Order: sequence, then structure tokens, then C-alpha cells
Amino acid sequence: MASEIKIRDLVKVYGRLPVVRGIDLDIPAGSFTVFVGPSGCGKTTTLRMIAGLESISHGDLTVDGVRMNETPSRDRGVAMVFQSYALYPHKTVRENLEFSLKLEKLPTAEINRRIDTAVEVLELDPYMDRKPEALSGGQRQRVAMGRALVREPKVFLFDEPLSNLDAKLRNQMRVEIKRLQRQLGVTTVYVTHDQVEAMTMADMIVVMRDGLVEQTGSPIDIFENPANQFVAGFIGTPQMNFIDVTIAGGTLNVPDFGVHLTMPKGRFDLAAHDGQAAVMGARPEHLVPVGHGASVETDSHFEAEIEFSEMLGNETLLFCRKGAVKFVARMQNPRMIEPGETMTFGIDTDRLNLFDKTTGETLRQPKANDI
Ligand SMILES: Nc1ncnc2c1ncn2[C@@H]1O[C@H](COP(=O)(O)OP(=O)(O)OP(=O)(O)O)[C@@H](O)[C@H]1O
Ligand SMILES: [Mg+2]
Repeated sequence: MASEIKIRDLVKVYGRLPVVRGIDLDIPAGSFTVFVGPSGCGKTTTLRMIAGLESISHGDLTVDGVRMNETPSRDRGVAMVFQSYALYPHKTVRENLEFSLKLEKLPTAEINRRIDTAVEVLELDPYMDRKPEALSGGQRQRVAMGRALVREPKVFLFDEPLSNLDAKLRNQMRVEIKRLQRQLGVTTVYVTHDQVEAMTMADMIVVMRDGLVEQTGSPIDIFENPANQFVAGFIGTPQMNFIDVTIAGGTLNVPDFGVHLTMPKGRFDLAAHDGQAAVMGARPEHLVPVGHGASVETDSHFEAEIEFSEMLGNETLLFCRKGAVKFVARMQNPRMIEPGETMTFGIDTDRLNLFDKTTGETLRQPKANDI
């Protein structure tokens, strides 16, 4: 049975410096939960508190309803995989896998059963008698996972496990870890800097900033409905464009682009914010070069100069300027655009975000009002 983790008002203070400042989180049994956030925001610290490698300054950690704050790491039923694989360099792969089980004094038959399972799912058979130095990065990473796996943990904790691998191996391992997690159904908490990992692996993404949780939700929810400007800017590459607007007479006045936008009903109650200054959030794919993508309402059209473009093969990124404002747009049909060229853009108003200019909070209506 998979385990459910609950975190209540979790705090970590180093000396007098609070680095985790009161986190509440329900991590469902069997889920794949991904922590993202800027460097130093407390992801590793939170993971280590769950693992029992770091003491909890304040608050509660429960696993299946049992408070774990004081429980030694080895008794928590968690296994952690780090960025640096931390294999024993002088032991063979088999010895690396066996080590913790022998410490636990498990019967040999049980040790062998667990190792056989790990070897099979991770396809480690060819490497069992080699030492880590004779393995590639990806193979080492699989051994590190194997070592976690043989402990048959209730919870898997991963701290940027793939960040030392090259892009191709990362993609492979990403798929493998996800497949393994699905197969075993073990509750997993995974820290990453990689947006693709977060979007593709997570059942639930937790966006952290400065020791606090900014938003939790499914990948699509976080992407489509960011709770605030920070989350909106953090998730998605290239970053969402932020443009100052004024809400007036039920429309959006976008002086930088010289357009007035009529917004689709349901997403925002513009009347409730009449006269308010706001920030429009438009992802690069929502600023559409006219004639090169989805058709967009003509009242949203404006011209801008291309400063430079990046042809990525399947699409082209356009780095544009309109007066003093710069923005990035995404063009579906890839072609090189010469710097200095002028193009007409339209705004996909169906998917725009709007944020309070002062607080950065979304002006989106509660979900119940969605059409
Ligand atoms: N042992 C320690 N003593 C004092 N401060 C620490 C200690 N460990 C971490 N910190 C601080 O706590 C904050 C959070 O660190 P943490 O490692 O959790 O960040 P992170 O989100 O994992 O960052 P990264 O993405 O760079 O790995 C940082 O400001 C860090 O400097
Ligand atoms: Mg970290």
C-alpha cells in the first residue's frame, strides 16, 4: 500500500535564518509530486526533512497519519536518490545494492529476491560485477535507483536525479523513472529544475518560492491558470510576456500595443475591476504572427519589429520590439526572419492571463464560473 504524506506548517530555521517558512502540503498516496522553484527556495531542505536527514524546526510531518518528526531516517520507510549518485566507489554494483540490506540483517534469500527484482526492472544484469567507475552516468544513476528500490520504501525521494546526465539520457531516464513509479505505485516526491520533467512526470506540481508554497496543482492547471505572476513567469519557456494594461469599459486597453481587447466571457469579470491597472500575461504562443498560426480577432492586431529570431526546427521564436516594450512570440511554421523585419501579430484572448498590478495575484474568476 502506498503512503500518504501530510505536511503542516513545516518550518526549518538554520541558526536564526528561516529557510522553510511554513509549508502545508498533502501528498496523495501513490502520487508523483514534483517540487520546482528558484535556487535556494528550500526544495532540498524540505525533501531532507521528509527523509529525516534534517531536523524539523517546527510543524508536523505525518506518513499514513503517524507523526514522523522524531523518527530516525532509517525507520521512515523512505529512500532518497541524489543528484550525485553517492555510490560506494570500491564496491561492485551488486555490493552497492546489497549493502543496506545486509546492514538490516535481512535473510540472504530475501536480499536476493529484492536484488533480482531491481536488476530486472532496471536492466542492471550486465553490470553487476563492475565498480561505479566502469559505468556511464546513466548506468550509475540506475544503480543509485536500484539501491533505493531494494529497500522497498514506502516513499521515494528524488533530488534532481538527472541533472548530471546529457539531454538524451535524461529523456530516457525520465521515461524510465516515471514508468517504474507507475508500475510500483510508490508515493514519490521529486525535485527538479527541468520544466519538461516537471510537466511530464508530475501528477502534482508544487511551486515554491523563498521557503513558501506559491501554488500546487496539476501540470496543466499550473500552466493554464497560474495563481500569480510569479508562478506564471516561472513555469513555461520562453517565459510568459507581461504587458501593462488598464481595464476600461469591459475591455483591456493595451497602450504598448495600441489595441483594445474584448475578452471572452467567463475567464475574467472585467466590470468588477473597471479602471484598474493590471498586468496582462501572454505566453509566446498567444502572440500569434498573423498568417502563421491560429487566426485571431482583427481588433487585437498590431505591428512589431523583429529584433532577432531563433529557428528551432519545429518552430521559430521571435524576439520582438514594439516601441519600448519587448516580447517573445512563437511561430508555428518555422522560417528565418531577418532582423528589422516588421510583422503583424494578433493576441489569442482566450488564453490570456491577468494579474493585479500591485499584488501580482491572478484576476481570474474562481473555476466554478468557467464556461
Ligand atoms: N546547513 C545549512 N546551513 C545554513 N543554511 C543552509 C543550510 N542548508 C541550506 N541552507 C540554506 O537554505 C536555503 C534553502 O536551501 P535548499 O538547498 O533547500 O534550496 P534548493 O531550493 O534546494 O536550491 P537549489 O535549487 O539550488 O538546489 C538556501 O538559502 C541555503 O543557503
Ligand atoms: Mg536543492
